[in-house]
Amino acid sequence: MIELNDFIKKYKPVVESQLIEYLSFKLNDPRSELKKAMCYSISAKAKRIRPIIVLSTFSLFNNKFERILPLACAIEMIHTYSLIHDDLPAMDNDDFRRGQPTCHKKFREDIAILAGDTLNTFAFELIAKEMVKYYPAQKVLKSIELLSSSCGIFGMAGGQVLDLLSNSDTGSYDQLKSIHKFKTGALIKACITIPAVLENADTKTYDSLSRFADNLGLLFQIIDDILDVTGKKEVLGKSPNKDIKQNKLTYIKLFGLEKAKDAANKEMIKAQKNLDNIKNIDTGILQQIILYFVNREF
Ligand code: IPE
Ligand code: IPE
Ligand code: MG
Ligand code: MG
Ligand code: MG
Repeated sequence: MIELNDFIKKYKPVVESQLIEYLSFKLNDPRSELKKAMCYSISAKAKRIRPIIVLSTFSLFNNKFERILPLACAIEMIHTYSLIHDDLPAMDNDDFRRGQPTCHKKFREDIAILAGDTLNTFAFELIAKEMVKYYPAQKVLKSIELLSSSCGIFGMAGGQVLDLLSNSDTGSYDQLKSIHKFKTGALIKACITIPAVLENADTKTYDSLSRFADNLGLLFQIIDDILDVTGKKEVLGKSPNKDIKQNKLTYIKLFGLEKAKDAANKEMIKAQKNLDNIKNIDTGILQQIILYFVNREF
């Protein structure tokens, strides 16, 4: 069985150097400031867990990783764009991210907004350009559909609106689950469903992976809520105790720390069960990702 730690050690640097290579635009006018802002946020210290999930899911079906690297990098770009915008004064107003000043603190706010926009659109350019080298156009088109919907109104951006407009005093559990499913879960789900579609997973495997992905996405954000109250700035790389200050509707706000941990455990078990339904493929690496999520400290 592949050890997740070894897998991360091997592929995280591959993803990181590929990200920088993709962003190595040659510019000698003021747009170099935009490139700098994009590279600043992309190359900061981060887990790269979404690319790792993409590569892990792909590894269930295929070991020619060069085929899936563009998708892994595109998703990390979209995620980084979502963080740059999430930190803006108009949103969560954070000044520290990935162990360094946020993009809008380091660059101007206008440049940070555009760095986010450009990472978002470039991600799709990359998929369209690079993935057709390895996959039929129909598959690439389906990937674009799944990825764009995962970050649109029925995905990340919609979830961010639900988060921003929620009222933590009157918000319900159903509202909380929707926020987490859309703002965080949808993009994590895409990391699993797209490689499964590209690699022709059979319907039964696809359905189990898809349910597993729902559990994993929710689990990830429950742990993010928990870390907001238990984590230290130096380890998290972002400011803790933001959610209470900003009246966010979180698992901690609704249930308290202990029950939030119980909810994470429940989601962990559901995720494991959904993977256990897959009998014909070794899903060990995805099992290890569940534990990585539960035990992560940043
Ligand atoms: C933080 O994502 C934002 C959420 C969706 C909770 P990560 O915890 O994956 O942050 P990085 O990419 O490692 O910085
Ligand atoms: C952010 O959720 C989800 C995104 C789409 C970026 P949070 O606002 O809780 O993420 P952090 O805690 O700032 O990383
Ligand atoms: Mg937020
Ligand atoms: Mg935030
Ligand atoms: Mg958070």
